[in-house]
This record gives sequence, structure tokens and C-alpha cells, in this order.
Amino acid sequence: MSPGEGYDQGSTNQASANKGAVEWLIRGAVAAAAISPGVISILDLGSATGKNSAGELKHAVDAILQADAGRTIVVTHIDTTSNDWNQLSRTLMSAPGSYLNGSAAGKVFGHMSAKSFFEQVAPAGSVALAYSGISFHWMSHCLPHSDCWVQREFTADRAACTANKQQAAEDWLQILKQRAIELMPGGYLIATALTKKHSEGLNILFADWGHQCWQEVLHQDIISHQEFANFTFGTWLRTTEEWLAPFKGEMCNIFEVLDFQEQASTDSNWTNYKNAEGPEPDKALALARGYCRFVFAVAGGIVTANLAHRPRAEVDKVLELMKAKFIDLARSKPIEFRFPTMMVVLRRK
Ligand SMILES: C[S@@+](CC[C@H](N)C(=O)[O-])C[C@H]1O[C@@H](n2cnc3c(N)ncnc32)[C@H](O)[C@@H]1O
Repeated sequence: MSPGEGYDQGSTNQASANKGAVEWLIRGAVAAAAISPGVISILDLGSATGKNSAGELKHAVDAILQADAGRTIVVTHIDTTSNDWNQLSRTLMSAPGSYLNGSAAGKVFGHMSAKSFFEQVAPAGSVALAYSGISFHWMSHCLPHSDCWVQREFTADRAACTANKQQAAEDWLQILKQRAIELMPGGYLIATALTKKHSEGLNILFADWGHQCWQEVLHQDIISHQEFANFTFGTWLRTTEEWLAPFKGEMCNIFEVLDFQEQASTDSNWTNYKNAEGPEPDKALALARGYCRFVFAVAGGIVTANLAHRPRAEVDKVLELMKAKFIDLARSKPIEFRFPTMMVVLRRK
């Protein structure tokens, strides 16, 4: 299985969060058609494999073509160099719900670009609609902290926490500044991302479980103290106040906030885990394995990246140990897996 296929199977929470954006994507698409004199340029920022955006963007593409079948659209998918671009290409060309697979062929073009959304990724004033699904909580870089690997907002190292919070604020501003350059006046930026508003308890629990898994590997002398301390999971789960802060300050004359919603995304795999019977009679174990599959679809890649200097067999051993520990923890306290997310809709003034 390629890393991208793992992401596709595990990312039902992300899919659920993105569904909430579809209505706005259609409205954004109508606005995009109205403001674009020629080719309509759409961005998908932090696309991953396209599993959760190719279908959402089809709604936008269809809305444009239904109004005027003669329009030409270019969708550019942006992600980091380590993204599974092969899987993105497969999804765009052959996934049943993809905007590229079907009647839009010849009018709609899908481009891929390995770039960071902290940089300018398109010519100034060229983009009519920018979309980002569950990606803007990633930081440009993580500042060190001493005690907890998963989410820096929960570290007991208060100085590190404050420094990371400041970095996250600067990062969000940087994302907005770059979009302000790329977007045409009247263009929309629609984003969903993880937050920590609703169920902080769940986030803390996962941070704690992650920490315990990583500690397990340390206790077994498989990683060094330095490797333990260097571990990063480079996200910052902003509160509503943190997400909205720029629009009360520097960005208030640049973007109009059309909508902001907090939502709790759901894991559609959840029912499958909960009902798992037959070959897997132990439901708690089935649940735990379900959580584990999901968490390691993302965390596995991060563990691997952090231990890139190690031989693959050693990294695999670390992953197996962490998974076993994670399953133990999840069996001991089964919880319903819901991520708090937000959706923000902005219009470039
Ligand atoms: C949780 S995935 C979401 C993917 C997809 N949009 C979805 O909704 O399922 C976050 C994605 O953001 C990408 N990402 C993180 N930092 C990035 C950056 N600075 N520039 C571009 N992409 C980034 C990651 O590589 C990853 O593919």
C-alpha cells in the first residue's frame, strides 16, 4: 500500500469536515466565474492525495460549467514535496467523483505543484477561488519543546507553548498574506482546519496517548533521548479566537469574513468499528484497531520522517511497538472519535 492509499482509507474525519464546505464552494465558484475574464483559476492548498478534494471541487467545477459550458478552468493542487503525487494523479484521473473524470474533460485541467502554502504559489491577482481542506493547522516549522510529542499546545513546557502559539499566529498571517497576493478582488478563500475549541479533552487524550506510545519506544531503548526530544507533529490547533484574530487587525481591510463555523467532523468508519463482529468478536479490539489505522495513516508518516536517518527495518519496529501500545490504550478507554474543526469563508476585498 502506498502512503497515499493509507491516507485515503483513514481520512474519513477529514472527508466529513470538507463536506461542510461544499455549499460555499458552489457560491465561491459562481463568484469566481463572474470575476474571471478568461481562464478560471482554482487552488487546492494541502491537497494530499485529492481523495477529499477532487469530489468537493467537482461541485465548484460543475456549477461553473452548468452556468456557461464554454468556460475553461484550471485547478492547481498544492502540497509539499513529500506528498504522494502518484496517488493524487490516480485520484484525479480515475476516482468516480473526481472533477477530471467525466464530462468536464477538455474544459477542466488539473495541475500539481510541489510548493508550500506559506509561499506565493500562483501569479499575483490570478486566482479566483482558493480552497484548503484540513491543512492550515500545519505550522511552517515547530519550535522545540521538552516533554510532549503530539500537539505543542498541550506541552507542560509553558515557554515553548507560548513561543509555538506566537509562531502559529505568524503562520496564519503568512498564509493569508500570500492568498491576498494571489486572489483577484472578489475571489474567495474557503478553508476547513482542525481546532481545539469543542472537545479539548479528546485532543488532550490523543496527545497523551501519542506521548505514551513514543515514551514506550524510549523505554525500550530503541530511540535515544535526543530523538525522543526532537520528535515533531508540526501542527497547532487554533482556538476560534486565534483563527479570527487577523481579521480584527492586519487583515481587516483585505478580507471580508463571510462565514465562520465550528463543527465536529465525524468518522464514517466509526460505525464499522462499532459493529465489527464475526472474525473480530472483541469489539473493543476492533475499535482500537480502527483508531489505530486512522491515527497511523497520518502519524506513521510523521514517525517515519522523524526517523528518516534510521534503517527502514528499525523504523518499522518503532511503528509496530507504537501501534501495539496505542491499541492497548484505546482498548482500555474506547472513545468516540470526533475531531473539532472549523470552516472559514473569506472574500478578497
Ligand atoms: C490532513 S491533510 C489534508 C489533505 C486533504 N486536503 C484532505 O482534506 O483530506 C494535510 C495536508 O497538508 C499538507 N501540508 C502541510 N503543510 C503544508 C505546506 N506548508 N504547504 C502545502 N501543503 C502542506 C500535508 O502534506 C497534507 O497533505
